[in-house]
Amino acid sequence: MNKIIVANWKMNPMSIEEAAELARGTDMKKVVIVPPFPFLSRVKDVLKHAKLGAQDVFWTDSGAYTGEVSPMMLVKLGVKFVIVGHSERRNYFHETDETVNKKIHAALTAKLSVIFCVGENKDVRKKGIRHAEEFIRHELQRGLESVAVPRHAKSIIVAYEPIWAIGTGDTATPNDIETMAMFIKEWFRKTFGAQNVPDVLYGGSVSGGSAHAIAKCGGIDGVLVGGASLRAEEFKTIVQNFKV
Ligand code: PGA
Repeated sequence: MNKIIVANWKMNPMSIEEAAELARGTDMKKVVIVPPFPFLSRVKDVLKHAKLGAQDVFWTDSGAYTGEVSPMMLVKLGVKFVIVGHSERRNYFHETDETVNKKIHAALTAKLSVIFCVGENKDVRKKGIRHAEEFIRHELQRGLESVAVPRHAKSIIVAYEPIWAIGTGDTATPNDIETMAMFIKEWFRKTFGAQNVPDVLYGGSVSGGSAHAIAKCGGIDGVLVGGASLRAEEFKTIVQNFKV
């Protein structure tokens, strides 16, 4: 099984020098480093083992879209992965399933691998696991609308990130994680066939302490790490737990 550990730096660190140093300290096989846009090029120069990812992407290749970054620009910088639909983008920047879907289409057309984030909020989760599953199914369906999943299956990764676990220190339990990973894989199996089941990552307060239990969860092929990816030593501990 091919484990993947994604380091989502979010809007950190503050300088290009710090970015280069952090990249050097976390440059390992099976890792995808996802710095802010201004640091992509510098981080790319540093990496020998890890792959490069971007935190977002726009849905057309050029034009009058102030502030946006196109799939082609990313490809030309050496980016291989792009995160789409992160809950922070959905919450703070009003991304919808529709815009997430457009971005997934554009990224796949550009031959980028997509890390497609889904996750329910606390209110949904409080209503019970069936409600959470229904919510995730809906996000998957809408995000992948008209996407030729069988053609792109190897380029799609799903990150299950319950919103209540992101940046809160409140990691989901192994049971929660396993149940949802299995649900997601089963949905793909039923919808697109057994050949087209993607890798599923867990994200939400992954730490050096929680990585071991998460790595043992059925259906989990890796993790998407936020805060702890900024701490090189802790991040290495997380990666060690996913070495197979
Ligand atoms: P966290 O972030 O590890 O800081 O909770 C995860 C994420 O948002 O991807």
